[in-house]
Formats: sequence, C-alpha cells, structure tokens
Amino acid sequence: MLTGLSHVSIVVPDLDAAARAIGEKYGLKAGTPMVNAEQGVRLAYIDCGNAKIELMEPSRPDSPIAKFLEKNPKGGIHHFSFSVDNMDETTKALGDKGVRVLGDGKPKLNVSGERIAFIHPADFLGALVELEEHK
Ligand code: CO
Repeated sequence: MLTGLSHVSIVVPDLDAAARAIGEKYGLKAGTPMVNAEQGVRLAYIDCGNAKIELMEPSRPDSPIAKFLEKNPKGGIHHFSFSVDNMDETTKALGDKGVRVLGDGKPKLNVSGERIAFIHPADFLGALVELEEHK
C-alpha cells in the first residue's frame, strides 16, 4: 500500500544551476548529484524533512526527459512519487482496480537500488505518479 509521499520531481535544464539557485533563495541543500543510466537522468535530492524534491536533467540526448524539456524549456514538475511497502502487492492490487502500471512489467530501480514503477497519468487525475518501494 501507499505509505507516504516520497518526492516531487522537477525536470530542469541545468541541475547544478538549479541546485545553486534553490539553495541561495530558500536555504534548501541538494545532495550529491547521481546518474541513473537506465533512466537517462542525472539527479539530486533535496531533503525537505517530510518528503524530498528530486531535481533531474537528461544524462544523454535520447533521455526520456529530453522530450519534456523540449516542450518545457525552463523545466517544470514532471511527476510525484509515493512510498510503497511492497511493490508486487501494490501494483497487483492497483491493477485489479484497472490502474495501468507503465512499462514492460520488469522491475526498474532508482539510484538507491529501490524498485520503482510508474502509473499511467490518466489513472491519477492527469498526473504522472511514481511508486518507490521502501522496505
Ligand atoms: Co522520481
């Protein structure tokens, strides 16, 4: 089941510049940038206490988020993410209610090695939603 909000994800054209600007204006500190080669993103997390902000920039030209930046050159909110305690049980229960989980059914991992999955935006009020397994 969903156990909390994990993060809100923002695509930015320049990760380092974005982290610097948010730090200067709001005093929020981004962690060390990491690359998720499989997802084609370079990202850093800002810990806001009860949830995180995930800043992402494309790590290669054919990154799935490069298209998002073409449409939104200044960046913008891309998805938000719920923590789940058990990915298999949660996606099965959601599938039974007609919720479409994106992808080929094979488990995907985030940079911390946690399992992730995405829900079709049409099945969550038009928003792209990620599930992230926190054991
Ligand atoms: Co995310």
